[in-house]
Amino acid sequence: MKPFLTLDQGAFHGRRVLVRVDFNVPLEANGRITDDLRVRESLPTIQRLMKAGGRVVLCSHLGRPGGKREPSMSLRPVADHLGKLLGKPVAFVDECIGERAEAAAKKLKDGEVLLLENLRFHKAEEENNPEFVAALASLGELYVNDAFGTAHRAHASTEGVAQHLPSYAGDLMRKELEALGGLFAKPAKPFVAAVGGSKVSGKIDVIKNLLPRVDTILIGGAMAFTFSKAKGGRVGASLVEEDKLGLAKQILQEARERNVEFLLPVDVVATTNIKGHGENKVVPFGEVPPDWKGVDIGPKTVKLFAERIVKAKTVVFNGPMGVFEVKDFSAGACGVFAAAADCDGTTIVGGGDSAAAIQQCGFAGQVTHVSTGGGASLEFLEGKALPGVAALQRHAQAIAKSP
Ligand code: 3PG
Repeated sequence: MKPFLTLDQGAFHGRRVLVRVDFNVPLEANGRITDDLRVRESLPTIQRLMKAGGRVVLCSHLGRPGGKREPSMSLRPVADHLGKLLGKPVAFVDECIGERAEAAAKKLKDGEVLLLENLRFHKAEEENNPEFVAALASLGELYVNDAFGTAHRAHASTEGVAQHLPSYAGDLMRKELEALGGLFAKPAKPFVAAVGGSKVSGKIDVIKNLLPRVDTILIGGAMAFTFSKAKGGRVGASLVEEDKLGLAKQILQEARERNVEFLLPVDVVATTNIKGHGENKVVPFGEVPPDWKGVDIGPKTVKLFAERIVKAKTVVFNGPMGVFEVKDFSAGACGVFAAAADCDGTTIVGGGDSAAAIQQCGFAGQVTHVSTGGGASLEFLEGKALPGVAALQRHAQAIAKSP
């Protein structure tokens, strides 16, 4: 991976530091944050800048308000919550550019923190509009991007401002890039990928990018049924992408050619009601009865997958093994994460649903890294360049070239 500047390389004392964080957290109508992982994960960067005497101007998006002021997507409750976590008040201004935002930023003393209002109340943020970029950049003298979760977006706050200000990766951004980047640099072998989720089409690029690197791929989630049907299995009423059967066959063929062990489930939990209100039973993988839906990997599969995971030196998880949100269908997801907790190697959970699943199963603290990125980790695992990271790398390159 190309180098970028880190917080070790910056001098922040007395300087206004514009910090892009990803505070896109689930909020209830009363402003209660139901999962504050992203806020907690940004604390090391914020505390480090405070300790260094920086004047911290935080900016983030929340939800997709589509360029309009949407009170239910205000970041104000997040400022309150962050203040509690820091044990120090966090100022809040209900704008992210313009006079009031400038005045609030200029009022900051060394070690103080300000959170700006939701960037996406302005359409210009997502458009990476040059005037908006300049107005936002004017709030800081230095820029830190700690929003790994939004690094796949080429927006004003993730990409644009890095062209105006000396730019550093925050500690969370660095940690994410080291963890996920390590999978592609020199992963210790055996390297196992456990890929789940509902659709082959959503995971095809991840599988293709991993195939040349891994020893074993474990397939779970509803997408396993597209593979099952491609192999002539009976899938009942399970979710199948009929137009991806050819693609599934191609993947199976490529895995054979590359000598990659490609393990599909051997048994699955089938149900008459996906919400958990019907009858459930464990059936062989290719024998789901008509009108029944496969919703989780079965106990024999959990054992098989766990054997591979425990012995691995590197494991990456992307996509849950079943409909983990329903308790009766969560044993598969939790079973493979329990194996990850028993594995001595590097265990990386690639964001989004997988992060929610491992937290629900209670194993989040027992793996090497749980990514805060959903779409960002997916694109990273697909091998795509993330614009927010590329901007930091370009800045580092420009500095290295300057006399
Ligand atoms: C996420 O939740 O994946 C990030 O915060 C990015 O949000 P977005 O998909 O609305 O750009």
